[in-house]
Amino acid sequence: MQSMAKKENREKKSAWHNLVRVLAFLWSDEPNLRIRLFISFVFALFSLLINVSIPLFLKHAVDILSVSSAKHMILIALGAYSFIWSLSMIMIPIRELFVFRVIFYGSRVFVGTLFRHLHTLSQRFHVEKSTGAILNIIERVPRALPDIVWGVFLMIVPVLLEILVSIGILWWMYGFVYGLLLFVMLIVYIVFSYYAIEWSIVSQRKYNEIRKKTSSRIVDSLLNFETVKYFANHDFEFESCNQLLKAEEVAGTERYIRSELVNVGQGIVVGIGFTIFNIISGYAVYHHTHTIGDFIAINSYVLQCMLPLGSFGYVFRRLRESLADLEHVFDLLDQKSEIVDVPFAIDLWVDTPTIEFNHVSFGYDKRRVVLDDISFFVPAGKTVAFVGATGSGKSTIVKLLFRFYDVQAGSIKISGHDIRFVTQKSLQKSIGIVPQETALFNTTLYNNLMYARPTATMDEVNDAIAKAHLKDFIEKQPDGYATMIGERGLKISGGEKQRISIARVLLKEPAIYVFDEATSALDTKTEKQIQKNLEELSIGKTTLIIAHRLSTVTHADIIIVFDKGKIVEQGSHEELLIKDGMYARLWNQQNKIRKKELKDI
Ligand SMILES: Nc1ncnc2c1ncn2[C@@H]1O[C@H](COP(=O)(O)OP(=O)(O)OP(=O)(O)O)[C@@H](O)[C@H]1O
Ligand SMILES: [Mg+2]
Repeated sequence: MQSMAKKENREKKSAWHNLVRVLAFLWSDEPNLRIRLFISFVFALFSLLINVSIPLFLKHAVDILSVSSAKHMILIALGAYSFIWSLSMIMIPIRELFVFRVIFYGSRVFVGTLFRHLHTLSQRFHVEKSTGAILNIIERVPRALPDIVWGVFLMIVPVLLEILVSIGILWWMYGFVYGLLLFVMLIVYIVFSYYAIEWSIVSQRKYNEIRKKTSSRIVDSLLNFETVKYFANHDFEFESCNQLLKAEEVAGTERYIRSELVNVGQGIVVGIGFTIFNIISGYAVYHHTHTIGDFIAINSYVLQCMLPLGSFGYVFRRLRESLADLEHVFDLLDQKSEIVDVPFAIDLWVDTPTIEFNHVSFGYDKRRVVLDDISFFVPAGKTVAFVGATGSGKSTIVKLLFRFYDVQAGSIKISGHDIRFVTQKSLQKSIGIVPQETALFNTTLYNNLMYARPTATMDEVNDAIAKAHLKDFIEKQPDGYATMIGERGLKISGGEKQRISIARVLLKEPAIYVFDEATSALDTKTEKQIQKNLEELSIGKTTLIIAHRLSTVTHADIIIVFDKGKIVEQGSHEELLIKDGMYARLWNQQNKIRKKELKDI
């Protein structure tokens, strides 16, 4: 119980802290914004002055009408009252005109900052995140920001000021009791609203949590539409999603019920206050201490304060809900990247680098070692191949080389530079990879290719395409380069995807090539042809190859054999065969299978 109360307290604090952050963000980012915020604030103050003078104009009009003065006096009084009232109406949209730009600008910059930040976060964050949940959080920004800016700059501050000025006027014109009464009403209203809204916000938070889960479940289900069909699990998908939707329905309803109950409570507070005012001022009129004009002026001050106070309650609640919405946004913004450049990190400029792993140990989870005391050296311009059982840690080597994770012991050096002391950007630019699983963007084939190097010439693109054996494929496409390849490349075959990935890395022209099962999805003939191209390409280039099919790595200068996260052997193909160890065993097994296959054909 105590820890829950503590958590709520922390959340309350963070809500107001978040408000300060949003305002500071809007205030500091753009001088233009500051001017607009300032102008809208000035307009709000101006309309405040107009508003508080309306009851005075009304009182005069009523007084003049009730003593039936000269015609022109009545006309002037009614004209002035009508004019000031119309002016107050016009002021509402005018001040909002200035604030809308601030809202949309703020939204854009906020979402942009969040998007940029998400891309700086480390691999660990991205493999653990749920895209649906993140989308749900990003979508909250344009929903929450208008309520915050509008609420603070056009409602809460001006309305509070308006009420304070009204209290002053009532006090000054009709005595201490009226001013005090309005003041007490204001305080009761604010205290009640504060606690009531805190009570209702709990359900808003619960609703947000469930919505995040539902979005993430829906996105996951839609992304895996093929698997759903393969297993004919449509009903299961619907049912599990429907469970969440039902929970969302319950939480959403409770959220609205609580909100409306808060409104009812606020209405009761206002109603009681209004009744007390009417009784006191009506009594004064009865005893002729006030005129009817006075009664109407008091009544109108109270109404004028109560009306915005009514919407003030709504705005305050929306502000609080919007701040609750932004809690997750700020949580995301506060996520620190696990891997950051050290201060004064240098840019890695290498041509044909060496790569050195020095007693490297690593585990994704500290409780499980994936790489155990790995040491090897790749001489400049040489090709090194990694072979070994599935799950033995080969792809992990590459992830560490990219510095997606930091090693837990030992070091990795490229041309003598520890990769922890170079900028990540220059490191990532130096390495070109055909990953084990190609991920493509949902755009045209051309855009996917050019992603590697947008400045590449058409000749360079054609050359890369020829080497990756993509020419025929592109020529066969009715739309050629403009072929849309679908989400994650779903509209093309596995082998085609792999060849796009190869062409892309050729275009990148990196200092280090990494091929992680780069040709595993291709037929034997195409694989042989591409393999030949890649071998030619890797002459004089520092290259790492990971492969299960040993026949594709026999040309490597050094072959490193992995088993359960350890290096068990290394040497050239011939040396390892002579050694007659694990590699030789694997080689013989694969050879037997190959010979059998050839015989069967
Ligand atoms: N992001 C991750 N979080 C936790 N464990 C991981 C992660 N990625 C890989 N692993 C685990 O680390 C081990 C090594 O994985 P790795 O991908 O390096 O194997 P591999 O040798 O490339 O296998 P394969 O030949 O099947 O591609 C595996 O047991 C895998 O389950
Ligand atoms: Mg792998």
